[in-house]
Amino acid sequence: MNQALYKGKIDFMQKDDVLRLLRDPNLLPSEKLTLLSNIATQAETLGVPCYVVGGFVRDLLLGKPINDLDVVVEGDAINLGRKLVEVYGGKLTPHFKFHTAIWHLPNSTDFVDLITARKEIYEMPGALPKVTPSTIEDDLRRRDFTINAMALRLDGEGFGEILDPLDGQADLERRVIRVLHPRSFMDDPTRIFRAIRYEGRYSFNIEPLTLGLVDSEALKVLHMLSGERLRHELDLILEEERAFQMVVRVASAGVLTSIHPKMPKFNQEYADYLEMDIQLDVPADRRSMGFILWFLDLTEEEIFSLANRLDFSNQLSLDVWAGAQLMRSLPHLVGAKPSEWTYALEKLPLLSIYAVYLISRENALLSYISFWRHVKPRTNGNDLKAMGLLPGPRFSEILLKLRSAWLDGEVTNESQEKELLAKLL
Ligand code: CTP
Repeated sequence: MNQALYKGKIDFMQKDDVLRLLRDPNLLPSEKLTLLSNIATQAETLGVPCYVVGGFVRDLLLGKPINDLDVVVEGDAINLGRKLVEVYGGKLTPHFKFHTAIWHLPNSTDFVDLITARKEIYEMPGALPKVTPSTIEDDLRRRDFTINAMALRLDGEGFGEILDPLDGQADLERRVIRVLHPRSFMDDPTRIFRAIRYEGRYSFNIEPLTLGLVDSEALKVLHMLSGERLRHELDLILEEERAFQMVVRVASAGVLTSIHPKMPKFNQEYADYLEMDIQLDVPADRRSMGFILWFLDLTEEEIFSLANRLDFSNQLSLDVWAGAQLMRSLPHLVGAKPSEWTYALEKLPLLSIYAVYLISRENALLSYISFWRHVKPRTNGNDLKAMGLLPGPRFSEILLKLRSAWLDGEVTNESQEKELLAKLL
């Protein structure tokens, strides 16, 4: 945290301080500042008050680099989006039902979320809310935590002013995560994961009354959430640097068993490998790696049941299943020839093999990843055809035997391969 800014009165940030933070290129790249000023200019032309909200303000005040821009207007966000496209180019994806739009920036993969300030009414716990346009204050009051319920004004004279009706700055200073009202987790139980993520990420504490709201009623609502929503929250946790501590916290809050009775704890020894950079030529994906390591000791039946509950993609199910399967079959493979290892591993995803290597340190797995899987005989199908052989099962059998000979060191150069081929023919 930028301590200097909190000397004296803590719950009031001077506009000059905010402007200084906004102009710090380590927090906000200059092109993003220009983008904000462009949005402000067009909002002013349309006469609609306009703010950045949520994580932007939280991270700015904490002196952390800004990731995404969520812009709220007290007016029609879709209209503002159209104006931005007209003046600066890019593309707009409007969502008329929610009065929101995504502005895809020209010549870039970046985008800005444009939101009409709104009030939300949750008619059923856990269901998506009913939305009606309203003021920025109402928009802040519909949010999850005080530290996420601040706005920074963009248009006109107000540029750089912080709107903080729920004392988010004071909670940033106290380093606490606090909900805005007691039904918050009932309305949206994904906020339980969010609270734990912010707590772990910033080394904050979930304020005791807020923690007390993670009770059996809230967990019942969480139990009803769709697999897709739950998996998304777990994905976000796995992306975090302190994923293991977060999963421990999620488990101790009773959340894991509410998701599924077979949901395991994360073995710390396994979780530590999530922090390692993958040095080898293995497609790295932290979420998949996270789930492979997390579910590594489960049975096939448990994995399919969890994959079903969490709406895993086919690929993720395969990754996780393959990791656990390999872990179980490892003792039977130890001592096998390189060719036997190679054929046993060849159908498994590389990431799963790599995960099991990290845990077991079985050298054969590393040899497979870095070397054996690339070994091929010099002779290929065309060569066999040229020798008058007809394509068929015998074809693959010969090529397989040649490959095995290379893998197992029985053949080490081209002339030895030719000798073997002659014998096989
Ligand atoms: N929000 C909320 N309730 C949710 C999800 C989001 O109130 N269940 C609000 C919060 O004000 C949050 C904002 O929407 O700040 C944007 O959500 P999101 O992009 O998910 O979070 P960020 O604040 O950007 O945090 P992160 O750094 O984790 O992405």
